[in-house]
Amino acid sequence: MPSLWASEPAARRAEIAEALVHFLVASSPALKSEPVAAKAEVGRELFHSIGCIACHSPRDEKGRETITTGVVHLDHLARKYPLQALARFLHQPQQIRPAGRMPDLKLTDAESAAIARYLIETAVATDEEDAKLNEPSAFTPQADRIAEGRRLFEQYHCAACHGPAGNPGPANHLGGTDNQQRTETSTSRNQEEPRPTSAATSSAKPKADQRLAPPLAESRVDQGCLAAAPTHSVPWFDLGATQRQAIVTAIEASRPGGSKPAGAQQAMEPKSIQQQQLARTLTAFNCLACHVREEFGGVAEERNSYFQSPAKNLGDDARIPPPLTLVGAKLQPVWLKKVLFDGESVRPHMITRMPQYGETNLRHLPELLADLDQLPEWTPSLPNHESRDEPERNRARDLRDAGRKLLGNTSLNCVNCHNYNGKTPQNNGLELMTTPQRLKPAWFRQFLLSPNTVRPRIIMPVAWPGGQAVDQSVLKGDTDQQLEAIWYFLTLGRSAPDPAGVQPQDSKLMVTDTTRTYRGRSGVAGYRGIAVGFPEQLNYAFNAETGALSAIWRGDFVRVDRGGQGSGGFNPAARPLTWAQDVAFYRLPDDQTPWPLRPVMNKDQRVNPDPLYPKNRGYQFGGYYLDDQSIPTFLYQSADVKIEDKLSVLKDTKPSGSPNKNTEDRAAERTENDAREMANQLQRVITFNSSAEQTIWFRPLTGKIEETSAHQVRLGEMQLTHPVEKSLVTRRLLRALENEDGQRELLLQLKVPAGQSQLTLLYELLK
Ligand code: HEC
Ligand code: HEC
Ligand code: HEC
Ligand code: HEC
Repeated sequence: MPSLWASEPAARRAEIAEALVHFLVASSPALKSEPVAAKAEVGRELFHSIGCIACHSPRDEKGRETITTGVVHLDHLARKYPLQALARFLHQPQQIRPAGRMPDLKLTDAESAAIARYLIETAVATDEEDAKLNEPSAFTPQADRIAEGRRLFEQYHCAACHGPAGNPGPANHLGGTDNQQRTETSTSRNQEEPRPTSAATSSAKPKADQRLAPPLAESRVDQGCLAAAPTHSVPWFDLGATQRQAIVTAIEASRPGGSKPAGAQQAMEPKSIQQQQLARTLTAFNCLACHVREEFGGVAEERNSYFQSPAKNLGDDARIPPPLTLVGAKLQPVWLKKVLFDGESVRPHMITRMPQYGETNLRHLPELLADLDQLPEWTPSLPNHESRDEPERNRARDLRDAGRKLLGNTSLNCVNCHNYNGKTPQNNGLELMTTPQRLKPAWFRQFLLSPNTVRPRIIMPVAWPGGQAVDQSVLKGDTDQQLEAIWYFLTLGRSAPDPAGVQPQDSKLMVTDTTRTYRGRSGVAGYRGIAVGFPEQLNYAFNAETGALSAIWRGDFVRVDRGGQGSGGFNPAARPLTWAQDVAFYRLPDDQTPWPLRPVMNKDQRVNPDPLYPKNRGYQFGGYYLDDQSIPTFLYQSADVKIEDKLSVLKDTKPSGSPNKNTEDRAAERTENDAREMANQLQRVITFNSSAEQTIWFRPLTGKIEETSAHQVRLGEMQLTHPVEKSLVTRRLLRALENEDGQRELLLQLKVPAGQSQLTLLYELLK
């Protein structure tokens, strides 16, 4: 950041800064001041293990930075950021600093908050002044100063570099960046929508016709920003003599007919220009703090111990990020892009994360690496198992069987160290099934023939020492055919049976002492399903696409299906009670209008007949947040009614806020059950926020519903209690479902007042 008023007297400089502060604070959106439930201890652990210390200094127990040179210091943070602001920055750093040098480490909301707390609190412990500064300040911007600040903001063209103040958008460093409510807690990121990258940046760059200054090629090189002393109207960059000279040379060379100095780009071989460009990228983004490329970079000695892995048996390669030497010849272009831009990861055992720098910043890299890194081609000749030619089909079968045999535990036992088909052997190493999508064949061949040449410390055994196959029983010990067989087998993916020794994995997720939330596709909760499991062994599923609570079950939580690409679906791990997943809130014009059902696609109806559902029925999901016990509250909207929806386990024998008098009678019967750990009641509190009084309908349940009283119904072994009268429920309707034998829907008519109101329901699983 240059100095923009370096030529002003000190007193005036202070005034200018003060006015700008008033303006910037006034134009920043207020931060949400919800308490941040985060433990500094968790933050400390994350900070020192996931990769932050590659570029920042580790801290000792007193919070002091232990590495003093070559790092971006963070010891001033308590003075600079309120907790919420720092957490938000860490969650999506490129929203605030689009240049990407501070990368995105794929932190969840909770992780960002924990690290922010750690960074601020340990700093507070070292400095009492800081502690005071980090208390919420009583700074109130004053109108006259704001106006003066706005004028200065324009006068000094701050927006030329920062973008306009107060506007949301990634190109904007100043005055807040994130107006949208972003409460979507990403416990399992990358599962649904791709994360916003910083692709849409730089809209705020001045267009050529709005340029503030003459083109550089036409400038005088001893004036303006390059003048020897600060002048009134231009930024002051405080350049050293060498820096100034380098810029002058570059400007002169860029002039039409300008002399190209020796060593200027035009004189270079294209390869070495590319080499330079690559070196610049790897240094600027500090890739070399984690990766080796050729003889450069790599994890430095003083940081080595912070790179860890639970897979101790797999050696250093399980904890130190892979080398980038020849990576352009190693990875398929598509995969390289996935790693750089989509956060794709294949090393579950590696605690350090591959940071994301934003596609805009690294867009040139995949092509550059592919151009620079070359290996002699190797194209395995793959058989076609669907061929009409019998010998070809036989060859396909033989290669498949050979490949399977080689990988399995009766031959080379690759699956002892490598995951296969998402299944984890004892060592939880890199997944092999995705190899053909990830790797180029030539690299694969070269690596298998001699793993130690590529990665000197690797524990992976050499299976073809000197080109001779260790297992002579397969394909007559022919090395090339064996390599082809392995490659071919891997291309078959899930359509081939697993090699021997791959253990089926228990994919059950357990809930221990805190509530657990898992997002994924599910038969019981749709494409955007959310499962919530309570420690008391009660679980439910919520369809975020439509806002419907759609299943409840007791016992174990969910089984997850880790698809090849890491995104998972889930299924209840015990028998669930399920009901409809259509929108739960809607304005029915009258009693006869059928409920708006979600579109169904099947063999006859392959195209979605109503692609805008449920948006066109007024529903919109707004994410969820977790309270300090990790219990989620869902946020959504039905037309203009804002809804917060929270379920929690009711443990009391006499629930105090219970919606009806009958609960007490039942409480007496229940004492016996309460002795057990398993709870059986979920209380659901729905909070409405409406700008005006209005009537909406709520459809909490469908199925073979029995009516047990005016405020209770039963569905199978579940009893639902809802309030009536004196509450916002003004009517109850049980309507038969069309075409469905004996099935009914429960409809509650709600009169939602202006402002805030609440509806409490009780879901109880009877024995
Ligand atoms: C690849 C290197 C790299 C990694 C990894 C990295 N940072 Fe940074 N970080 C930087 C750089 C460079 C800056 C300065 C950014 C700039 O000038 O735009 C920075 C800036 C910051 C800032 C802002 C400082 C300020 O004064 O505003 C914070 C806070 C921060 N990093 C925390 C972290 C945390 C926490 C992690 C781990 C989750 C992390 N960084 C990982 C390179 C990195
Ligand atoms: C020539 C481009 C340029 C201009 C003009 C400019 N800035 Fe900056 N500003 C920067 C850069 C680059 C940084 C980041 C510096 C760093 O992190 O080391 C920065 C950083 C800042 C920061 C600190 C942000 C943070 O999160 O650490 C503030 C505040 C700021 N500028 C305000 C202003 C104001 C106000 C003006 C107009 C009076 C202005 N800037 C004009 C380039 C500019
Ligand atoms: C904080 C350490 C760190 C930094 C800094 C870092 N990386 Fe990585 N990188 C990793 C880790 C860890 C992995 C392994 C990720 C996985 O597969 O799970 C990785 C994987 C990769 C891969 C995939 C390699 C393979 O063989 O699968 C590429 C390519 C890569 N990084 C490039 C880069 C580039 C380019 C930069 C700088 C712009 C960079 N990395 C910065 C830690 C880092
Ligand atoms: C003793 C354990 C062990 C055995 C057995 C083993 N590997 Fe490996 N393998 C490793 C380790 C460790 C790595 C490095 C993983 C990493 O990059 O994170 C590796 C890396 C690889 C890679 C490079 C992956 C990449 O993208 O960087 C391939 C391919 C591979 N192994 C294939 C095989 C095959 C095929 C077999 C059987 C012939 C085999 N491995 C047997 C431990 C083993």
